Amino acid sequence: AGENAALKRNNNDQVWVPQRARPRRNRKNATMRGMVRENIVTPSNFIYPLFIHEENYNQAIESMPGCERHSLESMLKEVGEAYNLGVKTFVLFPKVPDELKTNLGVEAYNPEGIVPRALRLIKAAYPDSIVCTDVALDPYSDQGHDGVVENGKILNDVTINQLCKQAVCQARAGSDVVAPSDMMDGRVKAIRDALDSEGFTDVSILSYTAKYASAYYGPFRDALDSHPGFGDKKTYQQDPANGREALIEAALDAAEGADMLMVKPGMPYLDIIRRLKDASPLPIAAYHVSGEYAMIKAACEKGWLNEKDVVMETLTCFKRAGADIILTYYAKQAAQWIEQDGLY
Ligand code: PBG
Repeated sequence: AGENAALKRNNNDQVWVPQRARPRRNRKNATMRGMVRENIVTPSNFIYPLFIHEENYNQAIESMPGCERHSLESMLKEVGEAYNLGVKTFVLFPKVPDELKTNLGVEAYNPEGIVPRALRLIKAAYPDSIVCTDVALDPYSDQGHDGVVENGKILNDVTINQLCKQAVCQARAGSDVVAPSDMMDGRVKAIRDALDSEGFTDVSILSYTAKYASAYYGPFRDALDSHPGFGDKKTYQQDPANGREALIEAALDAAEGADMLMVKPGMPYLDIIRRLKDASPLPIAAYHVSGEYAMIKAACEKGWLNEKDVVMETLTCFKRAGADIILTYYAKQAAQWIEQDGLY
């Protein structure tokens, strides 16, 4: 009387709640957990974003502790260190001096600009690395927008014309993958055609397919000094409230010739990563953006989170959500942890 009816005694008189399935059996020690693990993060999944500038010194980025604007010399050193840890794919973001910024963003296709020079340096030193380049006008725009501005509007088709010149310029300098982050309609097809007409049929397109108008890009805009001069980016980047819209973008990008599809930001948009993964057989990339990085750094500086644990969990969650590729400012650090501790 008063006894829990579910509690029984087994033949050895031990407490027993009879049941067949016991999911904990597959978690009983690290070896068992390793055997049944569904998703594993490896350095070859990473794309490491690097900020570069024209100076011959490095400059800390206050809102992104641990990241800096690299001189070209320091960039090459950072590439080498990451490369030796198995991170062999990079994406370059230039901080451009104000005097080179114009509404048409013409510096974006200067063959002697900082991105082409950086590309040539990396590809000469590490021929089997993959160097990706961002295609969008914002680092080069005196308006701080991704496209050409007229009467307060971001012009779609005029911008595409500029983006095609930018992508071809990057391809000529050795870019392996161009990554349009501008969100203009029809740019993937136009860039594909422009690259192909110049003989760059082997240059890949990693499209920022579902790029949201996000508040998480703040620290990146500090790094590039590229905050929008007026308004916001909501007429071209997606509304954070919308999920189905990402499927429209994904279908268009795939039809226009994208080789890989990206979702951005990462953590708050894991559902979008999963939806694109289920909708498309193309490789899916997740961008763990600057604001996500800054949040983790800030909490860890306060001692409120354990940095290694929280970062490796986050990166693993991207893979579980469906990401094949992860762009993260933690790429080199995570590769170091993986080297020390083994695969997570
Ligand atoms: C710009 C671009 C942005 C990022 C990558 N490319 C910022 C923006 O759209 O304003 C953000 C990356 C990050 O926050 O880490 N085309």
